[in-house]
Amino acid sequence: MKRLLEARKWMKKNEEFLPTWHAHVGYSLDLFDHFAKGAKVQEVQRKQELDEALLKRWVEVGLAIGHLKKKRNGKVKSHKEMTRYISRHSPYSVGVLLTEMMELHIPTLLSYKDAMKGKERVSYLEKDYGPIVAQTSSLLEALAFPKLMEVIKKNKASSILDMGCGYGGYLSRIYEKNPDLKLTGIELHEEIVKEAKEQTKQTNVEIIQGDIQDFYTKEYKSDIVMMNNLLYYFSMEERQDLFKNAKELLNKKGRLLIMAPLQNSKHGQAFSAAFNSFMSAHENLYPLPSEKEIKSYAKKSGLKVKKVSPIIKEGGWYLIEVAK
Ligand SMILES: C[S@@+](CC[C@H](N)C(=O)[O-])C[C@H]1O[C@@H](n2cnc3c(N)ncnc32)[C@H](O)[C@@H]1O
Repeated sequence: MKRLLEARKWMKKNEEFLPTWHAHVGYSLDLFDHFAKGAKVQEVQRKQELDEALLKRWVEVGLAIGHLKKKRNGKVKSHKEMTRYISRHSPYSVGVLLTEMMELHIPTLLSYKDAMKGKERVSYLEKDYGPIVAQTSSLLEALAFPKLMEVIKKNKASSILDMGCGYGGYLSRIYEKNPDLKLTGIELHEEIVKEAKEQTKQTNVEIIQGDIQDFYTKEYKSDIVMMNNLLYYFSMEERQDLFKNAKELLNKKGRLLIMAPLQNSKHGQAFSAAFNSFMSAHENLYPLPSEKEIKSYAKKSGLKVKKVSPIIKEGGWYLIEVAK
C-alpha cells in the first residue's frame, strides 16, 4: 500500500507539468487564438491542416484543466486568460517563456545524467535560443526598472551604457522617463540588434553591434554601466576582465549595475540552484556568480560593492550596485 501511495505521490507531483505542456503546444501552434472566438475542432483541424486525433486529445486536456471551455453547438472556446497571456499575437503574451522552459531547459535537464557520467555536455546554441532568452529576460523589466530608476536619480546620471542590452528594453524605459540622457546599448547577436534598433527607433537610444569583451571607446564613458542577466555567458577570468573594462568605461563616481540570480543567496535558493544546474550542464555556459565572487571581482578592479538588493526574492534575483 505504501508503495502505491508513493507512486501516487509522484504522479500527483507530475500533474503540474500538464498545464505547462498544454500551454506550450497551444502557444507554439497558436491554438488559443484559433479557438479564441469559439470554433469546432474539425474547423480548426481543416483550416490549420493539423492531425485530427492529436488536436482532439489536446482539446480534451484543455477542457479538463480549464484552458478551454465547451460552448453550445459543439464549439470550443479558449479561456480568455489563455488568449491574453499565451497567444502569440497578444501584447501581454508570456508564451515565449514556455518555449524556453520546454525546448531549452527540459531537454538540457534530461541530458544531465549523461553529462554527469562523463558524456559531452550540451552546447547552448546562442544563434537559435538568443532571441528567446532575450525576450524572457525582458519579462523582468517591470520589476527591476523602478530600482534602476532609483539609482539613476540618486546619482544624477546623465549617460548610461547597457552591456548585452538584448532588445534595449531598459534603455527604452529610461528614455520614456528621461529623454535627455545619453543612452547606448551594446549587443552581440545580429538578429537581436536588428530588432532592438526597430524597437528603439522612436527614441534617442543608440544600439551598437559589438562584443562587450572588447568594447572600449572613450566617447562612450558613462555615469552608469549596466550588465544585466549575462554574467553566466562568461568564465570567471572573463568576468574579471569585464569588471576591469567596466571600470574604464565609468566616469568618476560612476556606478556599475549588475542584475543576476545569485548562487547561495539568502532568497530563492531552490530556483537559483535549478538555474545553476541548467547553466552547468552546458559546455559553453557558466555557473551563477555569488555575492562573494562579485565582491572579489570588484575589489580586484578597484571598485566597491555598495548595495545588494533582491529584485525577485523567490528567484534569488538581485541588483548589485558597484561604485567606482
Ligand atoms: C539574457 S540576455 C539579457 C538581456 C538584457 N540585458 C536583459 O537583462 O533583459 C543576454 C544578452 O547578452 C547578449 N550577449 C552575450 N554575450 C555578449 C557579448 N560578448 N557581447 C555583447 N552582448 C552579448 C546576448 O546576445 C543577449 O541578448
